[in-house]
Amino acid sequence: MSHEPLALADALASFEALWSPRIVTRVNDYDVRVAKVHGEHVWHAHDDTDEFFLVLEGELRISLREPDGERTVVLPRGAVFTVPRGTEHRPSAPSGAAILMFEPTGTSTVGDRHEAVPAHVDATTGHVLGS
Ligand code: NI
Repeated sequence: MSHEPLALADALASFEALWSPRIVTRVNDYDVRVAKVHGEHVWHAHDDTDEFFLVLEGELRISLREPDGERTVVLPRGAVFTVPRGTEHRPSAPSGAAILMFEPTGTSTVGDRHEAVPAHVDATTGHVLGS
């Protein structure tokens, strides 16, 4: 991994795949990942870690299954949100978005529990930028 400054716009311009995060840097044992998203991800949960989102472009929605029921949070560009560990969630972006995520290295995009993964969703622990 490069140890030079990186413009997120350049990182985002370097790939086209949707729902397929690229690791832009690491902080201790955490990855900073960016992804382009459009349409729906899958319901899933990370049993052992929270998951941080920052919306870089567009609008992201995250549906959550909480003890009191299901709700969807809407995150415009510039918004941050953390999904608590163990909470089932389904990100979606009807009009497309670019997002940044912060989570422990090795965290799967589809979590530890998930519904069937459709072809448009990449089940990965993140790709090194440029690979
Ligand atoms: Ni997740």
